Amino acid sequence: MKTSFIDKKQSEDRISCLGDNKLNHIAIIMDGNGRWAQKRGMPRVAGHKEGLTTVVKVVKSAVKCKVKYLTLYTFSTENWKRPKSEIDFILKLPMEFLNRYLPELIANNVRIETIGDVAYLPVYTRKALQYATKRTRNNDGLQLNFALNYGSRHEILLAMKEMYLDINHAKLSLDNVDEQLFSQYLNTAGMPEPDLLIRTGGEKRLSNFLLWQLAYTEFWFTDVLWPDFSEEEFMRALDEYQQRKRRFGGI
Ligand code: IPE
Ligand code: IPE
Ligand code: MG
Repeated sequence: MKTSFIDKKQSEDRISCLGDNKLNHIAIIMDGNGRWAQKRGMPRVAGHKEGLTTVVKVVKSAVKCKVKYLTLYTFSTENWKRPKSEIDFILKLPMEFLNRYLPELIANNVRIETIGDVAYLPVYTRKALQYATKRTRNNDGLQLNFALNYGSRHEILLAMKEMYLDINHAKLSLDNVDEQLFSQYLNTAGMPEPDLLIRTGGEKRLSNFLLWQLAYTEFWFTDVLWPDFSEEEFMRALDEYQQRKRRFGGI
Protein backbone atom coordinates (compact mmCIF):
# COMPACT_ATOMS: atom_id res chain seq x y z
CA MET A 1 0.00 0.00 0.00
CA LYS A 2 1.22 3.45 -0.85
CA THR A 3 1.87 5.62 2.15
CA SER A 4 1.20 9.30 1.85
CA PHE A 5 3.23 12.04 3.48
CA ILE A 6 0.11 13.87 4.47
CA ASP A 7 -2.57 12.16 6.47
CA LYS A 8 -6.03 13.67 6.57
CA LYS A 9 -5.67 15.09 10.07
CA GLN A 10 -2.43 16.92 9.18
CA SER A 11 -3.85 18.44 6.02
CA GLU A 12 -6.74 19.85 8.01
CA ASP A 13 -4.47 21.54 10.53
CA ARG A 14 -3.92 25.22 10.05
CA ILE A 15 -0.35 25.68 8.99
CA SER A 16 1.74 28.67 9.80
CA CYS A 17 3.48 28.91 6.44
CA LEU A 18 0.81 31.20 5.11
CA GLY A 19 1.32 34.95 4.95
CA ASP A 20 1.48 37.90 2.60
CA ASN A 21 4.96 37.16 1.28
CA LYS A 22 4.91 34.77 -1.65
CA LEU A 23 6.74 31.53 -0.99
CA ASN A 24 7.32 29.83 -4.31
CA HIS A 25 10.89 28.66 -3.87
CA ILE A 26 12.94 27.67 -0.82
CA ALA A 27 16.65 26.91 -1.09
CA ILE A 28 18.48 25.08 1.69
CA ILE A 29 22.17 24.67 2.52
CA MET A 30 21.98 21.42 4.48
CA ASP A 31 25.06 21.80 6.69
CA GLY A 32 26.32 20.20 9.90
CA ASN A 33 26.13 16.47 9.17
CA GLY A 34 29.77 15.77 9.99
CA ARG A 35 29.66 17.67 13.29
CA TRP A 36 26.40 15.93 14.23
CA ALA A 37 28.11 12.55 13.89
CA GLN A 38 31.38 13.59 15.52
CA LYS A 39 29.51 14.90 18.58
CA ARG A 40 28.20 11.37 19.01
CA GLY A 41 31.57 9.68 18.46
CA MET A 42 30.41 8.36 15.10
CA PRO A 43 32.13 8.65 11.70
CA ARG A 44 31.16 11.77 9.70
CA VAL A 45 29.28 9.70 7.14
CA ALA A 46 26.78 8.61 9.80
CA GLY A 47 25.67 12.24 9.83
CA HIS A 48 25.12 12.24 6.08
CA LYS A 49 23.00 9.13 6.39
CA GLU A 50 20.97 10.59 9.24
CA GLY A 51 20.52 13.76 7.18
CA LEU A 52 18.32 11.82 4.75
CA THR A 53 15.57 11.60 7.37
CA THR A 54 15.62 15.39 7.60
CA VAL A 55 15.30 15.64 3.82
CA VAL A 56 12.12 13.57 3.98
CA LYS A 57 10.68 15.72 6.79
CA VAL A 58 11.44 18.95 4.99
CA VAL A 59 10.01 17.72 1.69
CA LYS A 60 6.84 16.69 3.55
CA SER A 61 6.55 20.12 5.12
CA ALA A 62 7.19 21.88 1.82
CA VAL A 63 4.47 19.81 0.14
CA LYS A 64 2.11 20.71 2.99
CA CYS A 65 2.91 24.39 2.55
CA LYS A 66 2.34 24.15 -1.20
CA VAL A 67 5.82 25.43 -1.97
CA LYS A 68 6.46 25.09 -5.71
CA TYR A 69 10.26 24.63 -5.67
CA LEU A 70 12.65 23.27 -3.06
CA THR A 71 16.35 23.33 -3.91
CA LEU A 72 18.68 21.32 -1.69
CA TYR A 73 22.45 21.88 -1.73
CA THR A 74 23.60 18.29 -1.70
CA PHE A 75 27.18 18.30 -3.05
CA SER A 76 29.19 21.36 -4.03
CA THR A 77 31.96 21.76 -6.60
CA GLU A 78 34.23 22.40 -3.59
CA ASN A 79 33.22 19.16 -1.80
CA TRP A 80 35.59 17.21 -4.10
CA LYS A 81 38.31 18.37 -1.67
CA ARG A 82 37.04 15.85 0.90
CA PRO A 83 38.47 12.35 1.42
CA LYS A 84 37.44 9.97 -1.35
CA SER A 85 35.64 7.65 1.05
CA GLU A 86 33.38 10.48 2.23
CA ILE A 87 32.72 11.65 -1.35
CA ASP A 88 31.81 8.12 -2.41
CA PHE A 89 29.44 7.80 0.52
CA ILE A 90 27.71 11.11 -0.16
CA LEU A 91 27.32 10.41 -3.87
CA LYS A 92 25.62 7.07 -3.14
CA LEU A 93 22.96 8.77 -1.03
CA PRO A 94 20.77 10.12 -3.87
CA MET A 95 20.40 6.54 -5.13
CA GLU A 96 19.62 5.23 -1.64
CA PHE A 97 17.19 8.06 -1.03
CA LEU A 98 15.34 7.48 -4.29
CA ASN A 99 15.29 3.67 -3.92
CA ARG A 100 13.57 4.14 -0.62
CA TYR A 101 11.37 7.18 -1.08
CA LEU A 102 10.55 7.53 -4.80
CA PRO A 103 7.12 5.83 -4.45
CA GLU A 104 6.21 8.24 -1.65
CA LEU A 105 7.46 11.21 -3.65
CA ILE A 106 5.37 10.10 -6.62
CA ALA A 107 2.31 9.61 -4.39
CA ASN A 108 2.79 13.22 -3.30
CA ASN A 109 3.03 14.55 -6.86
CA VAL A 110 6.69 15.65 -6.41
CA ARG A 111 8.81 16.29 -9.52
CA ILE A 112 12.53 15.52 -9.19
CA GLU A 113 15.16 17.62 -10.96
CA THR A 114 18.89 18.23 -10.59
CA ILE A 115 21.00 21.33 -10.95
CA GLY A 116 24.78 21.30 -11.24
CA ASP A 117 27.31 19.71 -13.54
CA VAL A 118 25.97 16.19 -13.19
CA ALA A 119 28.12 14.73 -15.96
CA TYR A 120 30.95 14.32 -13.43
CA LEU A 121 28.88 12.26 -10.99
CA PRO A 122 29.26 8.46 -10.75
CA VAL A 123 27.11 6.59 -13.25
CA TYR A 124 24.88 5.02 -10.54
CA THR A 125 24.08 8.44 -9.13
CA ARG A 126 23.20 9.82 -12.56
CA LYS A 127 21.11 6.76 -13.43
CA ALA A 128 19.07 6.96 -10.23
CA LEU A 129 18.44 10.66 -10.77
CA GLN A 130 17.65 10.25 -14.47
CA TYR A 131 15.15 7.51 -13.68
CA ALA A 132 13.49 9.59 -10.95
CA THR A 133 13.40 12.68 -13.18
CA LYS A 134 11.80 10.77 -16.01
CA ARG A 135 9.37 8.97 -13.74
CA THR A 136 8.19 12.22 -12.10
CA ARG A 137 8.31 14.44 -15.20
CA ASN A 138 4.55 14.90 -15.41
CA ASN A 139 3.98 15.58 -11.72
CA ASP A 140 2.92 19.14 -11.06
CA GLY A 141 3.32 19.42 -7.30
CA LEU A 142 6.54 20.42 -5.56
CA GLN A 143 9.65 20.50 -7.77
CA LEU A 144 12.50 19.07 -5.72
CA ASN A 145 15.88 20.16 -7.08
CA PHE A 146 18.99 18.36 -5.90
CA ALA A 147 22.05 20.56 -6.38
CA LEU A 148 24.82 18.08 -7.12
CA ASN A 149 28.31 19.01 -8.20
CA TYR A 150 26.83 22.48 -8.08
CA GLY A 151 28.91 25.63 -7.76
CA SER A 152 27.52 29.01 -8.63
CA ARG A 153 30.68 30.46 -10.18
CA HIS A 154 31.04 27.38 -12.37
CA GLU A 155 27.38 27.69 -13.38
CA ILE A 156 27.78 31.39 -14.26
CA LEU A 157 30.93 30.74 -16.30
CA LEU A 158 29.25 27.94 -18.27
CA ALA A 159 26.25 30.20 -18.90
CA MET A 160 28.56 32.95 -20.15
CA LYS A 161 30.39 30.59 -22.51
CA GLU A 162 27.15 29.20 -23.88
CA MET A 163 25.83 32.68 -24.44
CA TYR A 164 29.05 33.67 -26.20
CA LEU A 165 28.64 30.68 -28.56
CA ASP A 166 25.04 31.64 -29.32
CA ILE A 167 26.13 35.18 -30.11
CA ASN A 168 28.96 33.86 -32.26
CA HIS A 169 26.58 31.61 -34.18
CA ALA A 170 24.19 34.53 -34.63
CA LYS A 171 21.48 32.81 -32.61
CA LEU A 172 21.51 35.73 -30.24
CA SER A 173 22.27 39.41 -30.51
CA LEU A 174 24.36 41.11 -27.84
CA ASP A 175 21.80 43.93 -27.79
CA ASN A 176 19.18 41.51 -26.49
CA VAL A 177 21.22 40.30 -23.54
CA ASP A 178 19.64 41.43 -20.31
CA GLU A 179 19.25 39.96 -16.79
CA GLN A 180 16.14 38.03 -17.76
CA LEU A 181 17.84 36.46 -20.75
CA PHE A 182 21.04 35.67 -18.87
CA SER A 183 18.96 33.85 -16.21
CA GLN A 184 17.73 31.50 -18.91
CA TYR A 185 21.30 30.23 -19.42
CA LEU A 186 21.58 29.18 -15.77
CA ASN A 187 20.64 25.76 -14.38
CA THR A 188 17.60 27.34 -12.77
CA ALA A 189 16.14 28.55 -16.09
CA GLY A 190 12.38 28.76 -15.88
CA MET A 191 12.27 28.63 -12.07
CA PRO A 192 11.38 31.57 -9.85
CA GLU A 193 14.26 32.90 -7.75
CA PRO A 194 14.36 31.58 -4.18
CA ASP A 195 12.22 33.59 -1.75
CA LEU A 196 13.90 32.09 1.29
CA LEU A 197 17.37 30.62 1.88
CA ILE A 198 17.84 28.45 4.95
CA ARG A 199 21.30 27.40 6.17
CA THR A 200 21.63 24.96 9.05
CA GLY A 201 24.83 24.19 10.95
CA GLY A 202 25.75 27.65 12.23
CA GLU A 203 27.89 29.03 9.38
CA LYS A 204 26.82 32.32 7.88
CA ARG A 205 28.03 32.11 4.31
CA LEU A 206 26.77 31.03 0.90
CA SER A 207 29.57 28.59 0.07
CA ASN A 208 29.13 29.24 -3.68
CA PHE A 209 25.39 28.50 -3.73
CA LEU A 210 23.06 30.30 -6.18
CA LEU A 211 24.98 33.58 -6.10
CA TRP A 212 23.01 35.15 -8.96
CA GLN A 213 19.64 33.74 -7.94
CA LEU A 214 19.85 34.83 -4.28
CA ALA A 215 20.24 38.56 -5.08
CA TYR A 216 16.94 39.44 -3.34
CA THR A 217 16.31 36.32 -1.28
CA GLU A 218 15.57 36.47 2.47
CA PHE A 219 18.22 34.62 4.51
CA TRP A 220 17.55 32.54 7.62
CA PHE A 221 20.38 30.89 9.57
CA THR A 222 20.20 28.41 12.42
CA ASP A 223 22.84 26.69 14.58
CA VAL A 224 20.81 23.49 14.47
CA LEU A 225 22.77 20.77 12.65
CA TRP A 226 21.01 19.33 9.58
CA PRO A 227 20.22 15.88 11.08
CA ASP A 228 18.53 17.63 14.05
CA PHE A 229 16.57 20.09 11.89
CA SER A 230 12.90 19.45 12.62
CA GLU A 231 9.56 20.32 11.09
CA GLU A 232 9.05 22.82 13.95
CA GLU A 233 12.32 24.54 13.11
CA PHE A 234 11.39 24.63 9.42
CA MET A 235 8.02 26.16 10.30
CA ARG A 236 9.80 28.72 12.48
CA ALA A 237 11.88 29.76 9.47
CA LEU A 238 8.75 30.12 7.34
CA ASP A 239 6.97 32.04 10.06
CA GLU A 240 9.88 34.45 10.47
CA TYR A 241 10.07 34.83 6.71
CA GLN A 242 6.45 35.97 6.73
CA GLN A 243 7.41 38.79 9.15
CA ARG A 244 9.99 40.19 6.73
CA LYS A 245 9.28 43.34 4.74
CA ARG A 246 10.49 42.67 1.23
CA ARG A 247 11.12 45.98 -0.48
CA PHE A 248 13.24 45.00 -3.50
CA GLY A 249 14.78 48.45 -3.41
CA GLY A 250 11.45 50.25 -3.21
CA ILE A 251 9.95 51.96 -0.20
C1 IPE B 1 26.85 19.08 4.89
O1 IPE B 1 27.42 18.61 6.06
C2 IPE B 1 26.79 18.04 3.82
C3 IPE B 1 27.72 18.26 2.72
C4 IPE B 1 28.51 19.28 2.58
C5 IPE B 1 27.76 17.25 1.69
P1 IPE B 1 28.97 18.66 6.32
O2 IPE B 1 29.57 17.37 5.88
O3 IPE B 1 29.58 19.87 5.72
O4 IPE B 1 29.01 18.74 7.90
P2 IPE B 1 29.97 19.66 8.77
O5 IPE B 1 29.76 21.07 8.32
O6 IPE B 1 31.35 19.19 8.53
O7 IPE B 1 29.50 19.43 10.17
C1 IPE C 1 28.03 23.63 1.77
O1 IPE C 1 28.53 23.07 2.93
C2 IPE C 1 27.79 22.58 0.74
C3 IPE C 1 26.67 21.69 0.97
C4 IPE C 1 25.85 21.73 1.99
C5 IPE C 1 26.46 20.68 -0.03
P1 IPE C 1 30.10 22.97 3.21
O2 IPE C 1 30.24 22.34 4.55
O3 IPE C 1 30.76 22.30 2.08
O4 IPE C 1 30.52 24.50 3.23
P2 IPE C 1 31.78 25.21 3.91
O5 IPE C 1 32.98 24.40 3.55
O6 IPE C 1 31.53 25.23 5.38
O7 IPE C 1 31.77 26.58 3.33
MG1 MG D 1 29.85 21.75 6.38
